[in-house]
Amino acid sequence: MIYRIAPSILSADFARLGEEVKSVVDAGADLVHFDVMDNHYVPNLTVGPLVCAAIRPLVQVPIDVHLMVKPVDRIIPDFAEAGANIISFHPEATEHVDRTIGLIRSVGCKAGLVFNPATPLNYLDHVIDKLDLVLIMSVNPGFGGQAFIPEALDKLRAARARIAATGRNIWLEVDGGVKVENIAEVAQAGADTFVAGAAIFGTRDYKATMGAMRAHLARV
Ligand code: DX5
Ligand code: ZN
Repeated sequence: MIYRIAPSILSADFARLGEEVKSVVDAGADLVHFDVMDNHYVPNLTVGPLVCAAIRPLVQVPIDVHLMVKPVDRIIPDFAEAGANIISFHPEATEHVDRTIGLIRSVGCKAGLVFNPATPLNYLDHVIDKLDLVLIMSVNPGFGGQAFIPEALDKLRAARARIAATGRNIWLEVDGGVKVENIAEVAQAGADTFVAGAAIFGTRDYKATMGAMRAHLARV
């Protein structure tokens, strides 16, 4: 299994965002997870395409844009233009899930669908073959530093089974409350891509922290 670590910039020092993104990538991050919040779909407000474009030249790794905005379609081409590689959205945030997936792919990005803790996986029924990534939220979206919701483990197992049934290489990402202490258990449940905000940016040595995460993953 190939495991990927995706530090969430939400917990970075925004006053030094460029430096933070560079240091976390130098420390071994596989992706940069870019949380976009609109104070409408979720009760918080973060950053948009301008900031994505600003960090794009600083790193080579893919930028993994997690849209927590409603509606989503209007802003998708702007993120593609800003250099996003993966764009994920919540099914509740669009009237037409299939159309939004098509839009993301039409602008040259990989498409992901995100499941809140109470959102059923049934949204995958008719669209999973068009997806590159399934993202299981293990917290309610809106804030970094929340505790992992253990029910996400069963959901990861169910999502992993659905992905296996397609025979396609769809990434299974998990987002919220992932840390050194629980990453092995989360991997055992089927996740291959791990978002971690506070657990990485809240430490002094990003390389040591991600190294500890990888040491746990190596034993799964
Ligand atoms: C929550 C965001 C997450 C968040 C994760 O709405 O989607 O990406 O930053 O942060 P931690 O790892 O601190 O739970
Ligand atoms: Zn996120």
